Amino acid sequence: MTEAVLLVGGQGTRLRPLTVSTPKPMLPVAGVPFTVHQITRARDAGITRIVLATSYRSDVFREFLDDADHGVEIVIATEDEPLGTGGAIRHALPYLNSSGDDPVVVFNGDVLTGVDIAGLIRHHVNSASDVTLYLTPVPDPRAYGLVPTDATGRVTAFLEKPQTPEEIVTNQINAGCYVFRSSVISAIPTGRPVSVERETFPQLLADDARVSGVVDHGYWLDLGTPLAFAQGSRDLVLGLAPSPAVPQIGESLVLEGAVVARDAVLSGGTTIGRRAHVESGAVIEGSVVFDDAHVHSGARIRDSIIGAGAVIGEGSVVAGAVIGDGAHIGSGNELLDGVRIWPRAHLADGTVRFSSDS
Ligand code: GTP
Repeated sequence: MTEAVLLVGGQGTRLRPLTVSTPKPMLPVAGVPFTVHQITRARDAGITRIVLATSYRSDVFREFLDDADHGVEIVIATEDEPLGTGGAIRHALPYLNSSGDDPVVVFNGDVLTGVDIAGLIRHHVNSASDVTLYLTPVPDPRAYGLVPTDATGRVTAFLEKPQTPEEIVTNQINAGCYVFRSSVISAIPTGRPVSVERETFPQLLADDARVSGVVDHGYWLDLGTPLAFAQGSRDLVLGLAPSPAVPQIGESLVLEGAVVARDAVLSGGTTIGRRAHVESGAVIEGSVVFDDAHVHSGARIRDSIIGAGAVIGEGSVVAGAVIGDGAHIGSGNELLDGVRIWPRAHLADGTVRFSSDS
């Protein structure tokens, strides 16, 4: 039996306002809550029991679990106060059956990846490591935690968000999936917030523990920002990111009860949520339209997220924007790059326009 901890207790501030009522891992991505993609990938890698380490809005996870059946045992651990990534892993320990040298897999709850989970566990066991990290190469590592390794794959340092050229000694970053020796989890301090990236891992290196890195060149995306969230969703729908939980791969995914006008155009891995309505002449590209939203005729939406029950008025343009749940965008508006509309906000017809001819 192999167990895993899924870290899903963060506030997801970068994805506000979508995360005001729904925790990031429970946002729907390609037809199911994001966490289901991770759960089913873990199951297919042979993991039989998963502890969901929750904190923020743990009630949403409990509701979800009532009717979840994904062929794997799921247990919920809830921190009263958020304990950080390391504190959450330590808090989950009593909920695990693993002990001693048993490998425990830990996933950040917002990472979409094709990493070979079973291979990572094998590497961990065969190299007798205390912790094994999944590393991925990125073109610009400045926003991440750099993890250089030596010729034997042993981690030599943890460099959080390096800025100067001298600090950028590698392009391989911490990709948010680890295998821990169970006894290493027991040694994490209890009862206070601990960051695994800033405290636990550097301390293990200082103690000369065996910390290994496995570089995987496959698909990897941190879904933490709106643009990345939309990209992850479309990559799943288009079949570019691997998940057993995508209902159907294609140019678009239209979920049950949605009504899409015959001359509306959906492309680029767009998802149309349950009972949503897309009217005549609307063009939606590479976007996520949540359940019960309504896109009126002639609206054009690109690389955006339209919250549950939101309304996009006739002829409005939404590009690179996030529209909160239940917001109402009147007709003839233009909401462009980076705009975020708060849930249930109301924008009158023609209030925001950028075009020179407006
Ligand atoms: P931002 O606020 O937008 O940075 O997102 P976040 O809250 O998810 O933080 P971050 O992306 O740094 O967290 C990485 C992973 O750890 C995510 O899957 C979080 O859900 C999870 N996480 C972060 N802090 C905690 C915590 O205190 N407790 C638990 N259980 N999980 C956490």
